[in-house]
Amino acid sequence: MTVETPYNSARVTLEDSLTNSRIAGFYQLNMDAKRALVADTAGIPLDDLAAYDPAQGLSLEQAEHMIENVIGVYALPIGMAMNFTIDGRDRLIPMVVEEPSVVAGLSNAARLVRDSGGFSTQVDEPRMIGQIQILDLPDPQAARERLLAAREELLALANQADAVLVSLGGGARDIEVRVLETAIGAMLALHLILDVRDAMGANAVNTAVEALTPAVERISGGRVGLRIVSNLADRRLARASCRVSAELLATSEFSGEAAVGRIVEAHTFAQADPYRAATHNKGIMNGIDALMLATGNDWRAVEAGAHAYAAHSGAYLPLTSWEIAPEGDLVGSIELPMAAATFGGATRSHPQARLSLRILQVEHASELAGIAAAVGLGQNLAALRALAMEGIQRGHMRLHARQVAMAAGAQGDEIEQLAAAMITARTVRSDAAQVLLAELRGCTP
Ligand code: MEV
Repeated sequence: MTVETPYNSARVTLEDSLTNSRIAGFYQLNMDAKRALVADTAGIPLDDLAAYDPAQGLSLEQAEHMIENVIGVYALPIGMAMNFTIDGRDRLIPMVVEEPSVVAGLSNAARLVRDSGGFSTQVDEPRMIGQIQILDLPDPQAARERLLAAREELLALANQADAVLVSLGGGARDIEVRVLETAIGAMLALHLILDVRDAMGANAVNTAVEALTPAVERISGGRVGLRIVSNLADRRLARASCRVSAELLATSEFSGEAAVGRIVEAHTFAQADPYRAATHNKGIMNGIDALMLATGNDWRAVEAGAHAYAAHSGAYLPLTSWEIAPEGDLVGSIELPMAAATFGGATRSHPQARLSLRILQVEHASELAGIAAAVGLGQNLAALRALAMEGIQRGHMRLHARQVAMAAGAQGDEIEQLAAAMITARTVRSDAAQVLLAELRGCTP
């Protein structure tokens, strides 16, 4: 398929097949042409993409059923990250994000990885942890042993609480109990491990741990306090890895070998310093959160899990790792909890989230979790490459300038003109934007 771009007469070509995520020049197309390509690539009728129109998205009525005290609907851009090959399959990645450079950076990084063989992923079974706090125990160790001995009874009770989950192949898998020495005395943390299949799992887990309360009090002889899912979903890890050929990283300023070295140095900084690691991981979550938002997922849960996991060794560390392979290529990997869902919550009730899942062509939460891990790794590659080689501001400022221009009131063509004027003047600030906009309009501010 070929499409005329709106800006020049060049023809944009979809390489190979209609399920190919490598769409050269996608960013140059107008909205209609972009949609036509996405619809074709994802095998979705073009009209269905209208769900991404602000007027067709979440209605006020739907919003009122979602949360309380609703007075409107808040919109953000949905962009498509291109060029992803994950486990041998091409994917278009819908992203909801307000920050410039995230989608473009990810698409560029995905292209480097694609040209070097693509991302590989591996995902754990979708097991979430439900916690029960048990207090007022005269002998916490003995209570712990009694609870562990009652494992089969507790698992059966948890399964009775959700017959549908069990019929879908999920259900209770294990019981763990730890003694916590605290400032107010010893207490127990009982963990119910529940396979939640394609759900995020908070509801299923919370129902199950509440159902266990009477039995847990009877068996332990204590008092149950909190019963709630844990967002440190470390039994539901997603992993992605990739290799990038050194020569693809070369620029006019850096050889491939130097570029690989710089990226590895950047990673070492994050390993050595939590101040850097926090920003390194923030960049990873730029991509993952954008995907979680686009698919109606609980991105706060994924955020909480990621940062808690980053600190699970006792030190706060980067979620990714970058090394030099023996033959000189760059090799990267990521591992993090991924409580991503393709069922429940807003994933099916939000029309735009439903559409995003169709474009992604995912059926199961495990596929989405692997894609999210690959997105996190790709986003980190984009950030480290920019930071370690040219600095983040050069590319970032161009896009940031457009937002400043819009905030200053620029409309239509003025946006690009004002952004360019600010970059030329090396002042991307709202006060400068006001002055330059007035000049552009031929008046004084
Ligand atoms: C900005 O949103 C994200 C970065 O700061 C990430 C990083 O520093 O690795 C560019």
